[in-house]
Amino acid sequence: MADLSTTIAGIKSPNPFWLASAPPTDKEYNVVRAFKAGWGGVVWKTLGEDPPVVNVSSRYGALLDANRTMIGFNNIELITDRPLEVNLREIAAVKKAWPDRAVVVSLMAVMTEEAWAGLARRIAPTGADGIELNFGCPHGMCERGMGSAIGQVPEMVEQVTRWVKNATRLPVIVKLTPNITNVLWSAEAAKRGGADAVSLINTINSIASVDLDAMAPTPTVGGKGTHGGYCGPAVKPIALNMVAEIARNADTHGLPISGIGGIGNWRDAAEFIALGCGSVQVCTAAMVYGFRVVEDMIDGLSSWMDEKGYRTVEDFRGRAVGNVVNWNDLNMNFVTKAKIDKELCIDCGRCHIACEDTSHQAIRILAGVGKRLFEVVDEECVGCNLCAHVCPVPDCITMHEQANNLPYMTWPEHPQNPARILPPKAAE
Ligand SMILES: Cc1cc2nc3c(=O)[nH]c(=O)nc-3n(C[C@H](O)[C@H](O)[C@H](O)COP(=O)(O)O)c2cc1C
Ligand code: SF4
Ligand code: SF4
Repeated sequence: MADLSTTIAGIKSPNPFWLASAPPTDKEYNVVRAFKAGWGGVVWKTLGEDPPVVNVSSRYGALLDANRTMIGFNNIELITDRPLEVNLREIAAVKKAWPDRAVVVSLMAVMTEEAWAGLARRIAPTGADGIELNFGCPHGMCERGMGSAIGQVPEMVEQVTRWVKNATRLPVIVKLTPNITNVLWSAEAAKRGGADAVSLINTINSIASVDLDAMAPTPTVGGKGTHGGYCGPAVKPIALNMVAEIARNADTHGLPISGIGGIGNWRDAAEFIALGCGSVQVCTAAMVYGFRVVEDMIDGLSSWMDEKGYRTVEDFRGRAVGNVVNWNDLNMNFVTKAKIDKELCIDCGRCHIACEDTSHQAIRILAGVGKRLFEVVDEECVGCNLCAHVCPVPDCITMHEQANNLPYMTWPEHPQNPARILPPKAAE
């Protein structure tokens, strides 16, 4: 059976599945139950200086699909609203009782060395394995000069990271905000400040929906609403891209990454690990389905690793990074085309409408016995994948590479590129 144990920034855990800093990690009661369910680690809900913050009612918004499955989740909650002393006492008790699990403590403070270093110094004696700096929260705390107000300014990211590194010997993970134009600027700043790892993403600025009766954003607090932090399955593609950018960038390549954002099953986790992550953090899936989702994550990841012959997480960590390239490095001569399995087709017509109205009019309808038959016209198909995505029947439309014996040719080399870089002319 595959060995799921991981070490990231010197922090060991029996599996890569950590609970992200959020309500599931808010107190000893939760964390103990999470560890009993099998989670490899937790990032304790962000601590701040006393007096503790005060939260509003209500706090959450959601984007549901037609079956009421949660696609996206949004919150206007703040950091922990429990006294610092209580949290520190509970962290120490949990770490003592669960020495093999990773206990990382998230913290947030105003932009002074005294505040950050002071909190870091109070965390160290709890026995925690590391500190995570919350530079991400995009609501409530940023208005007070914290969270994303720091995370959006690379100089501040670097400065705070250095303050905390100077104040403690614990590994420091810098949690990045996605609410920026270029995640590399903050990742590079964190590295310059001495970060042992980065984690990402924190939540994305959002309004989950507008209540058309109250005429206010949700969640609605006495008739008014505000922007909140978006997370859940909907943010996974954004998180994966940012993780990949950091993993393949020359200046940050090799910087340990803890992946966060929309991870709900083992496959999501494997994708983050394939892009270089040494651990993954989960919040929404645990809030929606409970702590026991980790059982399927552990079973699924370990069976898949067995199937693929990966003995340890390191065997496949980062394997996809080399295949993330810039558009200009893609092969213009690669051709794929759609194929419809007439046996599986249920004659819904969705592929035809999609291709006809918005793609390349490459799906024709033939008269069939009892049902219409749909067929791809190869000469017209550009291999855009739209029909395969809209078809409701799994594996009914598949994409097939077309052998054409043409060499790998990028856009910079393409004859139709007006700025083509021509090979140097041979001497006359
Ligand atoms: C209700 C709620 C509260 C959160 N509180 C914190 C927090 O205190 N500190 C922090 O760093 N992130 C906080 N987060 C962000 C999560 O740690 C995580 O980065 C984000 O939810 C993305 O992961 P997910 O898609 O698995 O939910 C919170 C998220 C939610 C939903
Ligand atoms: S892949 Fe695109 S172009 Fe080809 S048949 Fe499907 S929708 Fe049409
Ligand atoms: S979308 Fe799929 S099931 Fe529907 S007609 Fe096209 S091939 Fe058939």
